[in-house]
Amino acid sequence: MTREIVTPRGETSPEIDGRWWDTAVIYEVYPRSFADADGDGVGDLRGVIERLPYIASLGVDGIWLTPFQRSPGIDQGYDISDYCDVDPLFGTLADFDELLSRAHAHGIRVLVDLVPNHTSIENELFVQAVAAGPGSSERELFHFATGRGDGPPNNWLSVFGGSAWTRVAPDSLDDTDWYLHLFSPAQPDWNWRNEAVGDYFEGVLRFWLDRGTDGVRIDVAHGLYKAEGLPDSDVVPTVIDGLRSNPLAMDQEPVHEVYRRWRRVAEEYTPGRVLVGEVNLMPERSARYTRSDEMHQTFAFSFARLGWNAAEWFDVGEQLEEARRRYGALPTWALENHDLVRTVTRFGGGERGARRARAALVALLGYPGGAYVFQGQELGLPEVDVPLTARVDPMWSRGGVSRDGVRVPIPWRADPDRSHGFATAADASLPWLPVPEGWGRHAVELQEADTDSTLALFRRAIRVRRRLLTDGAFAPVEGARWSLSSDGALSCHREGGAIVTVAMGDTAVPLPKGDTVLSSAALVDGMLPMDAAAWTY
Ligand code: NOJ
Repeated sequence: MTREIVTPRGETSPEIDGRWWDTAVIYEVYPRSFADADGDGVGDLRGVIERLPYIASLGVDGIWLTPFQRSPGIDQGYDISDYCDVDPLFGTLADFDELLSRAHAHGIRVLVDLVPNHTSIENELFVQAVAAGPGSSERELFHFATGRGDGPPNNWLSVFGGSAWTRVAPDSLDDTDWYLHLFSPAQPDWNWRNEAVGDYFEGVLRFWLDRGTDGVRIDVAHGLYKAEGLPDSDVVPTVIDGLRSNPLAMDQEPVHEVYRRWRRVAEEYTPGRVLVGEVNLMPERSARYTRSDEMHQTFAFSFARLGWNAAEWFDVGEQLEEARRRYGALPTWALENHDLVRTVTRFGGGERGARRARAALVALLGYPGGAYVFQGQELGLPEVDVPLTARVDPMWSRGGVSRDGVRVPIPWRADPDRSHGFATAADASLPWLPVPEGWGRHAVELQEADTDSTLALFRRAIRVRRRLLTDGAFAPVEGARWSLSSDGALSCHREGGAIVTVAMGDTAVPLPKGDTVLSSAALVDGMLPMDAAAWTY
């Protein structure tokens, strides 16, 4: 028997000593692919404003907006040229302010992306550094160095493939400098050992907090500082698997001072401003960034990278719990974002992948801690095989891995119009990434009319989660005990008493005693079918 507990939104919103993030569900909005209000084929801030009622109807606590700041858009906005302005492609600062106040009126908090590891070659400070020439103080804001013979200063590879260095002026005899870019050549890395860089970013952080933003998601937060002297490395980095990233370019001890400073800044503002880091490291290393005077959250990347494998989920669950005990902060769960392959596809594709993705969503929202959900995950969207000629991800051209397939625009309507309701203007251009045949079958409007849809399940899960957080079954700040049985039932026993079970083996599994308050698929003779998840209490 599944008992659904309906709680009006907002009535039970938990605020535990103001630590709202510990229990929050945040919805990641990738503005470029969310909703296109001006019909130029690219989503924009006004599109997000138009769709705020939808976001509010999900019951989430907040949104994280990926970069909309001024940028040439080589890495789809992660190459920011002006940190304190909105790119005309997405709108204006006035649009942002309106979005913020309207979101707040809906009870939705807003986080923006901060990208401190690197900037854009169009940032005026980089342009000035190039113009100022070798040996200038302007170049000290970045990593400029002379090469070794005809080659770059060291052997570091870019996360996107190829050397991490580009020659400033390949044909010049006077300027033989190279500059460092851990990502594309359009994204020069800042030199954080220069104090001016820290001051500059404190200004950027204050700019967004002053406008009323509720916090920042910090890109490549464990980057920033590089090993002194930039020695050669023997590790090949990749963006997907942070565990193999170049240790000389990541997780250097001085970086923690940056977050101590930012925490002090955040605490000068009204309570509840939050710092969440993209720290793509093992649980123990990542949790060090959430010590009480640093960030509030770091995404649980070791979890986000998992396939459908009970033993691996169990190990990661235990590691995260161990890290929580050691450093205090609860895990921050995520399974999808704009860089990762959609769970439906990652967990096997087709009907089976779709069932598992639903189960994973129920598990994610049941585990103790905050959760981040990527736009479209609530619709069970699969990864799209974007035609080769339409791929624009710089990681594809440099490294042969494309993240375009997770970034295809949201299908709002079933209509096979040009963009399934992504663009609301009558004479809209085609979307920046092509929408595949049949995309309309995942449309929001169809799922709203279907009580068994993934969207309906997601909304139900959020309502029940709120209820359980209030009545104590999901105690807000708590630990968990993990167990795995031989039939593939993975259980997370929350201290508050609720148990989250995922049937990851090839058979249905019995559920613990108590009421099943939510399940991703109907129980069969009281058993949880394979590829399903449930909360019992
Ligand atoms: C992580 C972002 O999520 C990704 O999209 C981007 O390419 C890299 N950081 C570089 O900024």
